Amino acid sequence: MKLGKRLQTLHDVVTQDYQHIWDCCCDHGQLGAQFLHSSQAHIHFVDVVPALIAKVKQDLTCFFPEAETRYSLYTLDVAKLPLTQYLGRQLVIIAGVGGDLTATLMTSLCNDLRDEVDFLLCPVHHHYSLRQTLQSLPLKVVHESLVEENRRIYEVLYLTSGKTGTAITPLGEAIWQQGALSKRYLEKTLDHYARVAKGKPEAQAILSAYQHLTL
Ligand SMILES: C[S@@+](CC[C@H](N)C(=O)[O-])C[C@H]1O[C@@H](n2cnc3c(N)ncnc32)[C@H](O)[C@@H]1O
Repeated sequence: MKLGKRLQTLHDVVTQDYQHIWDCCCDHGQLGAQFLHSSQAHIHFVDVVPALIAKVKQDLTCFFPEAETRYSLYTLDVAKLPLTQYLGRQLVIIAGVGGDLTATLMTSLCNDLRDEVDFLLCPVHHHYSLRQTLQSLPLKVVHESLVEENRRIYEVLYLTSGKTGTAITPLGEAIWQQGALSKRYLEKTLDHYARVAKGKPEAQAILSAYQHLTL
């Protein structure tokens, strides 16, 4: 199975071993299926739409007939993930949904964290407000980067509730050290917030924060 560049990047950024990997908002379940293939972890596929989970179940039965005991399927709101029911290292992946929804889900999940949990996020839009929410949660940055697919640039945020890592910043740090890609991302971001600020003056503060970045 060949993943697109965004999902392949999310897969490849994970170099640690986990006992549990949660492919949240999984839709087609491609990322979780890749981890089922490449890791020893138990893979949890979660989506709120029953028909999507039924399709993932059908695909896994067909393509991973030997791995029946290595995955679980849930038709569930990710805000209600039963993380505390599992022991061992856990990675929660939330990709391909809006930054606002990602913020809501992360706030809910971090409300009841008992053990150390890692998170891999790849939101669509609203990175600034998402980062503001993430700053208010007990999380640190393990790694952050940009990935481009179909002329769209995404932020990849690998976070931990553990002790090692750096502080989350509102604009990001390492994402501005990827040369030409960072430059293009900054241009796109400035264009976006300049447009938003025309109809929503409160976006001016966000625009000026990005304008102060020097690459
Ligand atoms: C565009 S797909 C993302 C698929 C995949 N994660 C990716 O990055 O390509 C978004 C999925 O999120 C699911 N979703 C939206 N809100 C959700 C929630 N609160 N809990 C679980 N799934 C949700 C939708 O049903 C949809 O299948």
